[in-house]
Amino acid sequence: MTDSLHRTYKVSIVGAGNVGSTLAQRVAEKNLADVVLFDIVTGRPQGIALDLMEAAGMEGHSRQLAGTNDYVDTADSDLIVITAGLPRKPGMTRDDLLKTNAQIVRDAALGAIAHSPNALIIVVTNPLDVMTYVAWQATQIPTHQVMGMAGILDSARFQTFIALELGISPQAVNAMVLGSHGDLMVPLPAYSTVSGIPITELMDPPTIDRLIERTCNGGAEIVGLLQTGGAYYAPASSVCLMVETILLNQPRILPVTAYLQGEYGLSDLFLGMPTRLGRAGIEKIYELTLTHSEKEALSLSAQKVRENIERVMAFL
Ligand code: NAI
Ligand code: 2OP
Repeated sequence: MTDSLHRTYKVSIVGAGNVGSTLAQRVAEKNLADVVLFDIVTGRPQGIALDLMEAAGMEGHSRQLAGTNDYVDTADSDLIVITAGLPRKPGMTRDDLLKTNAQIVRDAALGAIAHSPNALIIVVTNPLDVMTYVAWQATQIPTHQVMGMAGILDSARFQTFIALELGISPQAVNAMVLGSHGDLMVPLPAYSTVSGIPITELMDPPTIDRLIERTCNGGAEIVGLLQTGGAYYAPASSVCLMVETILLNQPRILPVTAYLQGEYGLSDLFLGMPTRLGRAGIEKIYELTLTHSEKEALSLSAQKVRENIERVMAFL
């Protein structure tokens, strides 16, 4: 895909692991942009990029993919996606990953932005809300240009479970999950709809509670099944939706981890919010009317993220 000057877009993905390589495949096969895959492991990003290039003729795209261990090759990217880090293992909380991943994300953000100062950054590495703050603090780029992916994935899981429960296509379902990416996420049943009908009109409260519980446990459910590593197909699809929305400038209202400056009474942290995502990045944050318990859940979610931001900032 190109802009009005016929320049091909460039997406650099830091971390050529499961999420990064699957995202590279999605972006190229959707013809959205050329892709540079960066990793610290020598040969891994080069091998994956070559493998994906060799599928191009059959998959019908003409995008270039390159692998590298040098940030110079990521120069002039439109988008930088940070997936570098350690995945969660069974029994490990996302917060266990805090310190290691903070250093990795800081180095990744600094390494990449040095060669693409105008790029937008999408953070994927966990713990997501805190890592997005780390990337912003490290780079000091405008807050609307840094964001995290989590709410789209959490909402996609809620969407899937609603669709399975009702026996309908997931495409008929729109779900909305806010807050932090973790056990304290805040699914919003009244803003989760089927053909415009809130699910609160279609299911009884115990059924909705059961689907919410499964959604909140969505990442852990897959970690428990896989035993090694976490989910990556739906996460890659979630990031790819953001890439497509931004590069094609097709603004959408999506739950994205965004910097708060007073919205919902919260400031100076990144949290999953209903945003308008477009070519400029986070173009607006919407303040929805929430129930008392949803407000409390959002506040608890924010409190946990803030505690971890303080821990990580003291350490970095
Ligand atoms: P993975 O282990 O398959 O890939 C991570 C890659 O990062 C590896 O290839 C590793 O060599 C690389 N890496 C490590 N240190 C690096 C550095 N300093 N610079 C560049 N690359 C480096 O892990 P996977 O499954 O791809 O997950 C990546 C991250 O994304 C994890 O933190 C995981 O928890 C998170 N995640 C977040 C989701 C979300 O909704 N926000 C969803 C899925 C995963
Ligand atoms: C997930 O939710 C591990 O955060 C990742 O699947």
